[in-house]
Amino acid sequence: MSQASPTESPDQNLQSSLRENRIFTPSAAFAAEAHVKSFAEYQQKYAHSIADPEAFWAEAARELDWFAPWTRVLDWKLPEAKWFVDGKLNLCHNCVDRHALGARAEKTALLWVGEPADEVRRISYRELHEQVQRAASGLRSLGIQKGDRVAIYMGMTPELAIALLACARIGAVHSVIFGGFAASAIADRVNDAQCVAILTQDGSWRRGNEIPLKTTVDQALEQAPSVKHVVVLRRTGSAIPMQAGRDHWWHELLAAAQPVCAAEPMDAEDPLYILYTSGTTGKPKGLVHTTGGYGVQTYLTTKYIFDLREDDVYWCTADIGWVTGHSYVVYGPLANGATVMMYEGAPNYPNFSRFWQLIEEHKVTIFYTAPTAIRAFMQWGNEHVERHDLSSLRLLGTVGEPINPEAWMWYREKIGGGRCPIVDTWWQTETGGIMVAPVPGAVPAKPGSATLPFFGIEPDVVDRSGKTVPAGSGGLLVVRRPWPSMARTVYGDAERYKKTYWSDVPGCYFTGDGARRDADGYLWLMGRVDDVINVSGHRLGTMEVESALVAHPKVTEAAVVGRPDELKGQAIVAFVTLDAATAVSESLDALKDELKRWVTKEIGALARPEEIRFTQVLPKTRSGKIMRRLLRELATTGHISGDTTTLEDFSALAKLRENEES
Ligand code: WTA
Repeated sequence: MSQASPTESPDQNLQSSLRENRIFTPSAAFAAEAHVKSFAEYQQKYAHSIADPEAFWAEAARELDWFAPWTRVLDWKLPEAKWFVDGKLNLCHNCVDRHALGARAEKTALLWVGEPADEVRRISYRELHEQVQRAASGLRSLGIQKGDRVAIYMGMTPELAIALLACARIGAVHSVIFGGFAASAIADRVNDAQCVAILTQDGSWRRGNEIPLKTTVDQALEQAPSVKHVVVLRRTGSAIPMQAGRDHWWHELLAAAQPVCAAEPMDAEDPLYILYTSGTTGKPKGLVHTTGGYGVQTYLTTKYIFDLREDDVYWCTADIGWVTGHSYVVYGPLANGATVMMYEGAPNYPNFSRFWQLIEEHKVTIFYTAPTAIRAFMQWGNEHVERHDLSSLRLLGTVGEPINPEAWMWYREKIGGGRCPIVDTWWQTETGGIMVAPVPGAVPAKPGSATLPFFGIEPDVVDRSGKTVPAGSGGLLVVRRPWPSMARTVYGDAERYKKTYWSDVPGCYFTGDGARRDADGYLWLMGRVDDVINVSGHRLGTMEVESALVAHPKVTEAAVVGRPDELKGQAIVAFVTLDAATAVSESLDALKDELKRWVTKEIGALARPEEIRFTQVLPKTRSGKIMRRLLRELATTGHISGDTTTLEDFSALAKLRENEES
């Protein structure tokens, strides 16, 4: 259960010091060609969408193919939403068939670039249709059926996108696990959803090294007995052991499969996928997204916020292992019939120009990435950018964390050549699709603000009682009414879903984020108010890292906080108490390294603490709760000035300070 939710004293975090006055209006040339051409048009459309959201979303839904129409747009009984009730559709059909069987048959659907040099694959909608059908038949031939859960642990290959679509085609519920997670993190996720199969690769390429995915899966499956089938894509060609009866090669399975596989008619509320994300407890939550509403909102937001046109080459750099990849590499852009670029490797391999070289070579027009990446590009130096022609770009986007105005300006000038609008998109794994972002031809941008809500979305900034706070003051970001792509539940734990999202602020969805709304109604995101940290745009629960640390035999207690970090947004600092024998006998520096490796092994490299500090006691409230606020302050500023009246053992603070000095 969400124990620490949302936090001891949220308002402490909500004093925003950011005051940014610059405004960038879309150019007349951009606006003239855009789907929404003026601020007045945005305002009018927004007002209509809020006056009658059901009519608005129904009109959007009619742009997709349905096998059977819905009878009602929305059934809403907090916290349960049903969108497009009784409607039948298939998202694979919407992303693939309707283009492959129409005018876009020969249009490139996936433009994939491998990390090793010179590897490029262009897959047309017609070819995608063929491959997705074979993959779907292949899964069916293993006995996988509608409703079965299928884990996917792959690198950024075209087959990863095909794997998601093949599951959607037969109604299997995919659970993609980011390729950087460790074996025990895979086992937890597979067990939670009782997956019957896992799709993986021999290995994947990352900065010239091979990441051994199949070996990690083999380790995970020692603790995950529900998996009956492992399908392995040959990518690197390394020798790997295959277990007879359980393991199948992707290419053999597809070669033997039926070439035709009809798309299963899915109910609008049938689950499409589960995606795990961090919360305030040690156990990640499996957010469940369903078919109809998710399909409609990802389709529509891609169309309007990226202002998609037929000839765009669209590149979202997110890994499909995160929600951004689900919604804005796969479902949203393919539902629009876009050409989607996918790149397998890292931005700094084989050199710091890799992304810019790819944009130049493939004439990318839309580029969507994370602020943490932009800050890294800045640090690497302008020379890597300047030697490339980026004039094909017409729109830029960011997601995952607040962007600092300095990075925003650099992005605009150096990457966008001063001419491309930037869409700063606020949303979450839970929201499924973009919620707040400028519609680019219409809404003027302010660097660092996600600006105004998308059509049909009603966010608010409130205090704990749910009352709207005055313009300019900080508060909790909530959403006042349901939206189509909202997660429907936490897999297997409806109670946790209700408690985490629909209980803190009466009548509202609580995002976990703090925000401020300025006099123009623009939203400025101020980071999490709960025990979630955001490292390089990736969410980690402090409890998750703490659980991993205390699982180490020498650790008694651990408290993890985020500290501002110029590059990553936040860095992980862990305060750790050791068992008495260890505390006196060990070389503490070696133990720090050991604990960092331990966390990497337990969760994955993304959770590796930047810094470990040993202490004799942790500061706690009288009720025994660790006062992370104090630790956060200590980790950030080196001292504590905040309120300590609820602190139980005052000596704890003195001891922490001592440790600082020694
Ligand atoms: C943060 C990623 C500021 C926020 C799509 C949110 C942002 C969490 C922005 C969700 C943004 C995401 N500005 N903060 N444009 N986008 N966030 O689930 O704290 O990985 O709650 O979804 O990232 O992260 P998640």
